[in-house]
Amino acid sequence: MSKIELRNHPKFYNVFISGPTGKMKLYTKNLDKGNRIYGEKLVSYKGKEYREWDPYRSKLAALLLENPRSDFLSGDLNCLYLGASSGTTVSHISDIAESGVIYSVEFAERSIRQLIQNTTRRKNIIPILDDARYPQNYAKSIFSPIDLIYQDVSQPNQAEIALNNCNFYLKKNGFLVLAIKSQSIDSIQKSEVVYAQEKKVLEKGGYSVLESINIHKYAANHIILIVKRN
Ligand SMILES: C[S@@+](CC[C@H](N)C(=O)[O-])C[C@H]1O[C@@H](n2cnc3c(N)ncnc32)[C@H](O)[C@@H]1O
Repeated sequence: MSKIELRNHPKFYNVFISGPTGKMKLYTKNLDKGNRIYGEKLVSYKGKEYREWDPYRSKLAALLLENPRSDFLSGDLNCLYLGASSGTTVSHISDIAESGVIYSVEFAERSIRQLIQNTTRRKNIIPILDDARYPQNYAKSIFSPIDLIYQDVSQPNQAEIALNNCNFYLKKNGFLVLAIKSQSIDSIQKSEVVYAQEKKVLEKGGYSVLESINIHKYAANHIILIVKRN
């Protein structure tokens, strides 16, 4: 394993960086030493193991590299993650939120099986096989107030799904980080029009859209909205 010089991210708790601004790489401290989730590079710094966080594989890493103003990560974060897949991004949030819980909802059986295999030694992940369109269905699996809802599902009504989950689970002043893929919503309409429509759904629902960040550099046709519950 290669040794490397790391430093703390200037804003985000438990996120580490290497390299100069503009060529910055992200890392999280590996909670499950010696194990990789998606073939990511493991590096060592001052006797501890870190996992490189690939912005081309994780939209949350892409977002952090675009310097959002809002700070929504913490060591005791309770996160409801919608569209967990096999755990690429979930595992990095698990590294960050050492004393929190990541409730990880995924409706594809194959993906959740991989998620369980990949993250079985991580005690702060609760995999939930369910459909994010029906938030009331997993109420019995969620036993703490939710600070952050992170959503990355390829569905035609992404903002509506997010809104329903926020109304159900997100605590006051909590954050929603919503990845929106315009192509999943409408492949004919211009992306900008689709994004504006989705934003409107959230604002009409009483939420404040604080930031809208383009991550096209890392994920085609995607933006991320950072939203707050008032
Ligand atoms: C783009 S992938 C997510 C990648 C993941 N967020 C990551 O960064 O590691 C989208 C995932 O959302 C899941 N998904 C789509 N619609 C869903 C729904 N209604 N409920 C739960 N999961 C859903 C898909 O099965 C897929 O695994």
